Amino acid sequence: MRLRIQVWRQSPIDNGHWETHDLNDLSPGMSILEVLDRLNELLVAQGDEAIAFDSDCREGICGACGITVDGQAHGATANEPSCHQRLWSYQDGQTVRLEPLRAGPFPVLRDLMVDRQALDVMIMAGGFVSVNAGAAPESNDLPVGHDTVEDALDFAACIGCGACVAACPNGSANLFLGAKLRHLSELPLPSLERDRRAKEMVATADRVFGPCSNYGECAIACPAGIPLAAVSQVNRERLRAAFRSLRKVRK
Ligand code: SF4
Ligand code: FES
Repeated sequence: MRLRIQVWRQSPIDNGHWETHDLNDLSPGMSILEVLDRLNELLVAQGDEAIAFDSDCREGICGACGITVDGQAHGATANEPSCHQRLWSYQDGQTVRLEPLRAGPFPVLRDLMVDRQALDVMIMAGGFVSVNAGAAPESNDLPVGHDTVEDALDFAACIGCGACVAACPNGSANLFLGAKLRHLSELPLPSLERDRRAKEMVATADRVFGPCSNYGECAIACPAGIPLAAVSQVNRERLRAAFRSLRKVRK
């Protein structure tokens, strides 16, 4: 299989440019990251600098990979990370454009690598549990219903790849934020910090990322299959925390 690869090259001190390379010995089962591996072997063999990109598990678990392929975060197949995007989505001889995840809060570090610390800022604003749980309790002392556990697990599946932000025309992080709020608000101990978490994480999202206009592009790109219901959870948590604060003031 042959592909013409247009890849974004950028150093920390320039504004970036496109580079074009022709690859002739690819197979349809290769992933987008394996194409970059092959290209890097050729570049290094001829004395050129390898293309920088992020990856770790290559199994759709870690969230480290994530590039924009022909304008789509992760690639042509919906709900798959870049490490699982296969060349059978492309035609023999096609030109394929590889560039970093594009979003204002994700500055390009080098080539296809971006700085996704903005997601860590969101987590530090409240995406954790600080309640002292003491010694491990007897599991049957704190029963949690099966449906609640399943729902919390579905939303805990977010791998923090940032594709939802890059896919959103506004650069909003509401799919990521809603996934965190939903899975933590459902379980007994994390729910004790629900109001504070909602206020601080939503305020941080408003400050660091753009607003949500319900385009829905985020859920199409999300490799963890986080549903759009996560986005509506953001406003639900925001309003719930505001009403509960009002009630406390009135008392
Ligand atoms: S919600 Fe989906 S697209 Fe967004 S960071 Fe989590 S896994 Fe990635
Ligand atoms: S490299 Fe870990 S999810 Fe793609």
